[in-house]
Amino acid sequence: MSGEQSEMKTVCVTGASRGLGRAIAEKFLSSGWKVAMVARDEKKLEAAADSLRRDCKRARSDAVVLAFDLSGRDSARRCFKELKRHWDRLDALVNNAGIQGPIGKFCDIEAEKWDVAFGTLLFAPLDMCREAIPWMAGNGGGDIVNLSGGGAASPRENFSAYAAAKTALVRVTEILALEYSAENISVNAVAPGAMPTDMLSSVIEAGPEAAGEREYEAARRVRAESCPDILRRAAGCVYALCNQKSPKITGRLISAVWDPWENLAAHSETITRGDIYTLRRVMPQDRGERWEAEA
Ligand SMILES: NC(=O)c1ccc[n+]([C@@H]2O[C@H](COP(=O)([O-])OP(=O)(O)OC[C@H]3O[C@@H](n4cnc5c(N)ncnc54)[C@H](OP(=O)(O)O)[C@@H]3O)[C@@H](O)[C@H]2O)c1
Repeated sequence: MSGEQSEMKTVCVTGASRGLGRAIAEKFLSSGWKVAMVARDEKKLEAAADSLRRDCKRARSDAVVLAFDLSGRDSARRCFKELKRHWDRLDALVNNAGIQGPIGKFCDIEAEKWDVAFGTLLFAPLDMCREAIPWMAGNGGGDIVNLSGGGAASPRENFSAYAAAKTALVRVTEILALEYSAENISVNAVAPGAMPTDMLSSVIEAGPEAAGEREYEAARRVRAESCPDILRRAAGCVYALCNQKSPKITGRLISAVWDPWENLAAHSETITRGDIYTLRRVMPQDRGERWEAEA
């Protein structure tokens, strides 16, 4: 630890070198937090941190750069060891780093590609949670946001590995929320909506044959039309969930695009009591059907 721990709140944002992660880092930094930015490419990460420090008029030590490939099983442990040399507490963790993973029909994808997708999209954020939770718990609590994505709440053809990893991440989010609410730790998932980032470009590069006509055309449309504001809006949603007052909303999947997240604090008790914003099975009665069991 550097010794000069201030009153400033601290957040670790993975995948912060570009795309949504960079927008999230900017939101926290411009709101007065200290930010640890994680990604694989150190040069790009340093460049992103430099430009954010400049734009937000913040000191070098306010944006810490941690170059790690989080898909390795020991990476989170090493990343947190390094982070603890800078800070003596962590207020928030945003598990944003991601890859699109293999695109195509299930039988056309080699099994090993699922390993890479799950390593980055599921095991990496879980390993980060495993490190963050005890640290937060020892300091009175904290807030965690895991980035969800297309396929977590409904099937997504030709993206089975990505969709399965994100669905699992949302379910574990619900479970961690239950397990650690007594420690004042909130764990939520955010669906940011389709954004014109490198990840979206990989859908366009895969082409309609692999991605399917619908996904391909949708990606092209987002690339052509989407305003940059969509990244800022998603970053705002993540920030709101990491900056909550009690009673905290926890264990929910919030859409940055469709949900009124700016006003959710007013409904936190209702949300936490029931199953609003959770992954659940649709029952016949939910669709107006009344089926009696045969005697
Ligand atoms: N774009 C969309 O339309 C969309 C829609 C829904 C959800 N999401 C989700 O939003 C999040 C951000 O996506 P994005 O579109 O901003 O992606 P992006 O532009 O491709 O950025 C991905 C970030 O993750 C980092 N990263 C990738 N693999 C990593 C690894 N193994 N270890 C450490 N860092 C790694 C990348 O840096 P390096 O390459 O240097 O490591 C980069 O900083 C993801 O979780 C994604 O699933 C995106």
